Amino acid sequence: MKKMNINKIKAFKSKEKISMITAYDALMAKLFDDLVDIILVGDSLNMSFGGDDDTLGISLEEMIYHTKAVCKGVKSALVVCDMPFGSYIDKDIALKNATKIYQQTKADAIKLEGGLEKADIIKELCKNSIAVMGHIGLKPQFVRAEGGYKVKGKSEEEIKKLIKDAKALEEAGVFCIVLEGVKAEATKTITQSVSVPVIGIGSGKDCDGQVLVWSDMLGFFDEFKPKFVKRYLDGAKLVRDSVKEYVKEVKEGKFPSEEYWY
Ligand code: KIV
Repeated sequence: MKKMNINKIKAFKSKEKISMITAYDALMAKLFDDLVDIILVGDSLNMSFGGDDDTLGISLEEMIYHTKAVCKGVKSALVVCDMPFGSYIDKDIALKNATKIYQQTKADAIKLEGGLEKADIIKELCKNSIAVMGHIGLKPQFVRAEGGYKVKGKSEEEIKKLIKDAKALEEAGVFCIVLEGVKAEATKTITQSVSVPVIGIGSGKDCDGQVLVWSDMLGFFDEFKPKFVKRYLDGAKLVRDSVKEYVKEVKEGKFPSEEYWY
């Protein structure tokens, strides 16, 4: 399978839906690689694997470590690395940190959260040959500042702001935009307002693609399930049942049997 690139992703707009999934290590990346268009090393890693209750605590070095691992498992999908909280507070810092990601990993692009207010930072990255994916709507890195996770696009005013943000990102040079946690009725207008693909999560069906966190969609993270997550597998149950069986066999002296020894 040929390697995906940002031009092919852009060309999917209004033609073919884009599939994106997160991965945080080589093992899962290898499983997903030839099935999906984009693998996102999301900072959701800090919650689903780091055990934290938001995404804010992960460092640039940790994101780089996981992105390197993902890239080792990938041959065809486009790999996008999330810039962690605090790593793009101005143009210079963003450029220094995005350059570090490009130099130390084989990521094809970076993703950062924010709209119009981040346009200058995105322009600077694009000017310096870094491919950028935007992220607007519900922005998990804003959870503490906004006092919780808030669904967006609930009023005409909010929809107008999202369209303004999407257009500012397109103008700044992003190749694609993630639209998270937006009322389904607002998604079509926002998606149609730009010529770059819009990939939704919890924003209904009227975008150019969808993204889900792998441990949510495969049911490995089962403490709570947001409304937008469809579970395609009951991973946690399968794992627990198998480990239970292993422990039982160990306790009963049934494992290992002859076929498992030298
Ligand atoms: O961190 C992440 O996994 C994300 C997706 C939910 C879009 O940003």
